[in-house]
Amino acid sequence: MSESKISLPDIADGEDKTSPLKNRIRKNYRHVKKWAKRTNTNCFRIYDREIREYPLAIDYYAGRFCVQFFSRSHESDDPSNELLEETENALCSIFGATPELIYWRTRARTKDTRQYEKAGESKEFFTVLEYGVEFEVNLTDYLDTGLFLDHRETRKLVADISQGKSVLNLFAYTCSFSVHAAAAGAKFTKSVDMSNTYTAWGIDNFKINSLSLKNNVVVRADCLKFLDEEIRSAVKYDIIIIDPPTISRSKKMDQLFDIQVDYISLISKSLALLAKGGVIFFSTNSRKFVFNKEYFADCMVVDISKKTFPIDFHDPKIHRCWKISLNQSQ
Ligand SMILES: C[S@@+](CC[C@H](N)C(=O)[O-])C[C@H]1O[C@@H](n2cnc3c(N)ncnc32)[C@H](O)[C@@H]1O
Repeated sequence: MSESKISLPDIADGEDKTSPLKNRIRKNYRHVKKWAKRTNTNCFRIYDREIREYPLAIDYYAGRFCVQFFSRSHESDDPSNELLEETENALCSIFGATPELIYWRTRARTKDTRQYEKAGESKEFFTVLEYGVEFEVNLTDYLDTGLFLDHRETRKLVADISQGKSVLNLFAYTCSFSVHAAAAGAKFTKSVDMSNTYTAWGIDNFKINSLSLKNNVVVRADCLKFLDEEIRSAVKYDIIIIDPPTISRSKKMDQLFDIQVDYISLISKSLALLAKGGVIFFSTNSRKFVFNKEYFADCMVVDISKKTFPIDFHDPKIHRCWKISLNQSQ
């Protein structure tokens, strides 16, 4: 784990009665800054759609600002010029930022499936710290940044029990769960994702933390097929993370993946890979998802969403998370 201490900007201006957005960002930042310094973290949310007139989420990533606009209109995906200007003014005034450090993204309300393909070509990667662990982030080329901030506490929970354990990270994206586990002393991690881009990005995340790729294997595969093969190989894991997309329709997969249907086989197959005393962390961003515990009568299933909810988010439904283990008699 990195020893370096982060530096975070001081608030550069005073209260402003004319901008509710500016005042809210200032209040949120004051709150999160103390925590961030203490935990050696320089990526966090500073505004989370709290005021209806400002349908934005603003994340701070080591001196840069990622602004997501949530369009309510079916016609336009872009924020109005007034909103754009007020937001940029607020960030420049509070943090002494300059406009080139502010990156806008749009997420239209009507799109409920996530896209993962490339959006740009700038290759502008830079490093952030989360609980002292380094991650490569890119705010321009992809629809997501490389690090889902809402799962920070879930990663910490996993890291806290990883010492000497073997960890399987399914739908690993840029391997943030397994990088944290490895940095916390896991003896072996395996990360599985179907995307070439994200597995390569994950490997970089291990490398920048000087974590051996021999003990931290990254596999490009469809997780559903991978699970069948892994069960045949009789390998076991102490910790398994399952954080899939809600829906996935990639050409690389034989069939459509739907969390509400496929969670049963994903968890059942993962249980077959679980070592004695092992634990599964299963998570979803789907707001409609219903977990039916009756499918897992042999297991202890605990909803840990309150524990994994981060200090800087305001939407309690940002994700839900369950801890699953086999009953002692198994
Ligand atoms: C919600 S993201 C996972 C986030 C990740 N767990 C994290 O914490 O950063 C979904 C990921 O699943 C991958 N994916 C989607 N369908 C897949 C499949 N059938 N097998 C393997 N990976 C898949 C995508 O490439 C993407 O990286």
